Amino acid sequence: MADVTYLKSLLGTHPDFPKKGIVFLDIFPILRDPVAFETLITHFVYHLTSKTIPSLPSRKIDVVVGLDARGFLIGPIIAQRLGAAFVPVRKQGKLPGQCVSASYEKEYGVDSFEMQADAIKPGQTVVVVDDLIATGGSAKAAGELVNKLGGKIVEYLFIIELTFLKAASKLDAPVYSIVQSD
Ligand code: ADE
Repeated sequence: MADVTYLKSLLGTHPDFPKKGIVFLDIFPILRDPVAFETLITHFVYHLTSKTIPSLPSRKIDVVVGLDARGFLIGPIIAQRLGAAFVPVRKQGKLPGQCVSASYEKEYGVDSFEMQADAIKPGQTVVVVDDLIATGGSAKAAGELVNKLGGKIVEYLFIIELTFLKAASKLDAPVYSIVQSD
């Protein structure tokens, strides 16, 4: 538990960013502190490997999917530690080759996520990683992409979960977060 308290103490809090009424929670102070960054990654890897996740009796994760953009900062490191593939989900128009797409609602309008169509093979076990889950729209779209390719999502992982937004109930697999904010 000491590691969670330590990570939580480092989070930046920015009222009215990027607009009035939003309290922005900033993970970058964790990444600036090498011990905290190591603690963060080790926490996720320990969670994924030392406990039995009900939907993953074999404990083998094939693919870590990271969301554009802060999921790219932690996803590849977790993937390397697990001996898993890293697959990025990017905003529309950024990935070459054949892609699958899924749209999601943002505060203003609609956006689209894409994944390369050959990135996940049917039956592979997948975890989806991002820094924070708010309404869950982007995580849900990422889940749709994984499902389109036949992957099996075992868990959604976040550093921070804004629990009052109840996003976990919209997703098709359990949510694991290190810090819960309400
Ligand atoms: N993304 C959506 N809501 C956020 C928040 N409060 N802090 C950081 N990133 C966010």
